[in-house]
Amino acid sequence: MTMSRSRIYPLFNEKQIHDRIQEVGEEIRRDYEGKDLVVIGLLNGVYVFFADLARAVDLDFEVGFMRVSSYGGGMESTGEVKVAQDLDKPIRGRHVLLVEDIVDTGLTLHKVLRLLQDREPASLKVASLLDKPSRRRVDVKADYVGFSIEDHFVVGYGLDLDGKYRNLPYVGIYNPA
Ligand code: IMP
Ligand code: MG
Repeated sequence: MTMSRSRIYPLFNEKQIHDRIQEVGEEIRRDYEGKDLVVIGLLNGVYVFFADLARAVDLDFEVGFMRVSSYGGGMESTGEVKVAQDLDKPIRGRHVLLVEDIVDTGLTLHKVLRLLQDREPASLKVASLLDKPSRRRVDVKADYVGFSIEDHFVVGYGLDLDGKYRNLPYVGIYNPA
């Protein structure tokens, strides 16, 4: 498959994304006010959303990152999830908000949630920029969702196709045909 930027059709522009993140950030602020919060990002896809969401939550919290890989490359899930980089601090007894770029089949989230739950946090919730509910293969859901979308492969704003397009400032649908 030849990749080309001309195959990308805008879905959410910078302003739509920014405005929605402000709303979600305010919701998170209300829910975690007065709590000991750790916000954990799942690399690599989350890096753009994470930076914007963290700055939209007007609270004092710690941040941490994990890296897992679920796709061998291309547009289909392999169903296999590997922890490539773990947290460097314990989360036991703390309120944890896990931040994802997109929940697709749910396999990644399911696996990471199980792993984190075993460490006995005070609470564990999920914020995801995007959600594709029609693609779900396991029963998991995000507590805070930026946008729920149809079954499209999307790129930009952190999301990649074979490692590319993460730096696009908007979210677009990649049309392979
Ligand atoms: P899941 O395990 O199928 O829910 O997929 C989770 C991961 O697959 C996400 O964190 C993304 O890295 C990747 N992914 C799923 N859907 C898309 C998409 O439409 N565009 C780019 N990456 C995607
Ligand atoms: Mg990815």
